[in-house]
Amino acid sequence: MRSEHWSTLVQPARPVTSGSATAVAQPNIALVKYWGKRDERLVLPWSDSLSMTLDIFPTTTHVRIAPDAEHDTVVLNGRPATGEVLRRVTTFLELVRNTAGRRGAAVVETDNTVPTGAGLASSASAFAALAVAAATVYGLDLDATALSRLARRGSGSASRSVFGGFAVWHAGQRTSTLAEADLNSYAEPVPSGDLDPALVIVVVDAGPKAVSSREAMRRTVDTSPLYGSWVAASEDDLVLMRDALRRGDLDAVGSIAEQNALGMHATMLAARPAVRYLSPATLEVLDQVSRLRRDGVSAYATMDAGPNVKVLCHRADADRVAEALRRSNPESSVHVAGPGQGARLLRASG
Ligand code: PMV
Repeated sequence: MRSEHWSTLVQPARPVTSGSATAVAQPNIALVKYWGKRDERLVLPWSDSLSMTLDIFPTTTHVRIAPDAEHDTVVLNGRPATGEVLRRVTTFLELVRNTAGRRGAAVVETDNTVPTGAGLASSASAFAALAVAAATVYGLDLDATALSRLARRGSGSASRSVFGGFAVWHAGQRTSTLAEADLNSYAEPVPSGDLDPALVIVVVDAGPKAVSSREAMRRTVDTSPLYGSWVAASEDDLVLMRDALRRGDLDAVGSIAEQNALGMHATMLAARPAVRYLSPATLEVLDQVSRLRRDGVSAYATMDAGPNVKVLCHRADADRVAEALRRSNPESSVHVAGPGQGARLLRASG
């Protein structure tokens, strides 16, 4: 399915003088990862990725037109945002305004319950919620495909949080032009068979990461000798993952996800200089997950741009897995998530 090419619509910019909208979205955890951009401005990845949207850690975002303001204002968890956060949100609003052919500054108030910057995909829920709320306020009438293309421009992983359950994000043909890839790079839901999964999230460190995923991806793509092989392996993983999901085979889903994640971290470790998100505490949890498996529990780990570990298991085993991981990691917070809904509008006025 192709969406209309909204980014080239040319309309005279008309002022928006009122209106507000509130949207909510949840983070997603990739089981086949996105790591590395073909184009940074358009946020086009080198490979397809596949994730599960969670039913916890919602981000709620309220966007309201500020008719007399000259600049956008962003308030994140009650505090005015500055620097990189403000710049990213303003750039995103500018894209929405240009696409809609509208002008007028906005106030964005975001409540993010995900620990920000800790490799728990806080930017995925943040930009999925912002895409829904901002598109509504500036009068962009987008279908889910176009919304996921828009959310992608804020943060790649946000394209997948537009959808609930499992979602695949298409990279867009590598041999196509950037404009074609931009059109074809969107997320969509992935059917799954009889699967009742849970992700047990072990937050070993909720602090911000030392290297942003943007910088780490750039360094990996530019300098890691393993990057090309990881992209090729990921393509195979995606085919196998779709099949495992269709069959509802949690052990296959989990082992593909674990191998894919370890491969992604290997490409980063081989970058020059190396990017290392995994900490000693991460490796401890990986050992505990192996032990759970040895004890007959289906449990598989995945890690993102941070030291925290997400353990995929059957929902029926989630309490047992969470309890075991809590006992072994008394310093960590442990959360249990199931598959959640996609981004949605809660209220709109004006
Ligand atoms: O949060 P982003 O869009 O900059 O990308 C982060 C990518 C990973 O979380 C590491 C993997 C993924 O596919 O979500």
